Amino acid sequence: MSQNIAILCSGGDVSGMNPALKHFVEASFKQGLTPYFIYDGYEGLIDNNIEKATYADVAGIITKGGTTIGSARSDRFLEKKYRKIAKKNLDKHKIEMLIVLGGDGSFRGLDIFYKEHGVKFCGIPSTIDNDIHGTEYSLGVDTALNMIRTAIDAIRDTAASFKRAFVIETMGRDCGYLALVSHITSGSELCLIPEVPYNLELYVDEFKKQLMHGRRYFLTIIAEGIKQDAQEIADWFEKEIGIETRTIVLGHIQRGGNPSSHDRLMAYKFIHYAIDALMSGKEESIVCYDKTGFNLKSIDYVTGHKKELDPELLQCLS
Ligand code: F6P
Repeated sequence: MSQNIAILCSGGDVSGMNPALKHFVEASFKQGLTPYFIYDGYEGLIDNNIEKATYADVAGIITKGGTTIGSARSDRFLEKKYRKIAKKNLDKHKIEMLIVLGGDGSFRGLDIFYKEHGVKFCGIPSTIDNDIHGTEYSLGVDTALNMIRTAIDAIRDTAASFKRAFVIETMGRDCGYLALVSHITSGSELCLIPEVPYNLELYVDEFKKQLMHGRRYFLTIIAEGIKQDAQEIADWFEKEIGIETRTIVLGHIQRGGNPSSHDRLMAYKFIHYAIDALMSGKEESIVCYDKTGFNLKSIDYVTGHKKELDPELLQCLS
């Protein structure tokens, strides 16, 4: 008899979830499994918002950002009584294996669920923050970086025309990855991230000198997790450097948009590794991508440590 496998998206949506859903349905059928969608993350699991998935559900979704099955942050799933209901709902549909696209918060809930109810799962790191320990890449981060790059390239045009500084805030929660990589790939003058202490006074003489020698604009990228906000940095530019300054908080545009080729390809690979892991009897793992390629890592390892930024990338701030 065919085994049932389900997938859900949890936490902040990312571009790359839809390609993953498409590959999930296709790969499940290929393996003789019956695929199910759980809508709206753990909330849907608690509310029995669970349906068999068909090819028709995933036709054409590979080009779409976000997730067609919805995502959510579920406070109820943190409570034992709701996890019990969630397990009953999985049993109603005879679902034995679960794939979760989410961040480490989503994985922590999943770990408790496994320990209480023994539901076999495989997690696929999916967050634009790219802040999950054990994996260098999380689904969606490439599209987010491309969105940021497009925005900064456009801001550069107007900054240069008007002789202005811009302070651009990226997402990332407590992690500076998006800001740091965008700083390198967009060639901004200053980058401030939570992982690296900074002292703005150290830039005053140099920036003023550059302005005197004809520099027309400054681009600064800050991560949302630093202690100061974009307006405070802008005020510093106006007061100390003497250049008119504007701020822009990129916000949720970083989470949307047509998934990049890289995210589509990684979605395909992640799904195949996840299904293979479950089919070969692995019960509680996260598919990670690191310097050695794809590896299955234990959930305790992944959720038990804070991710450190790559020292090679950090060198650009020293
Ligand atoms: O974790 C993804 C993320 O986009 C963070 O970068 C950001 O801090 C947060 O989610 C925003 O959450 P919400 O969509 O609930 O405002």
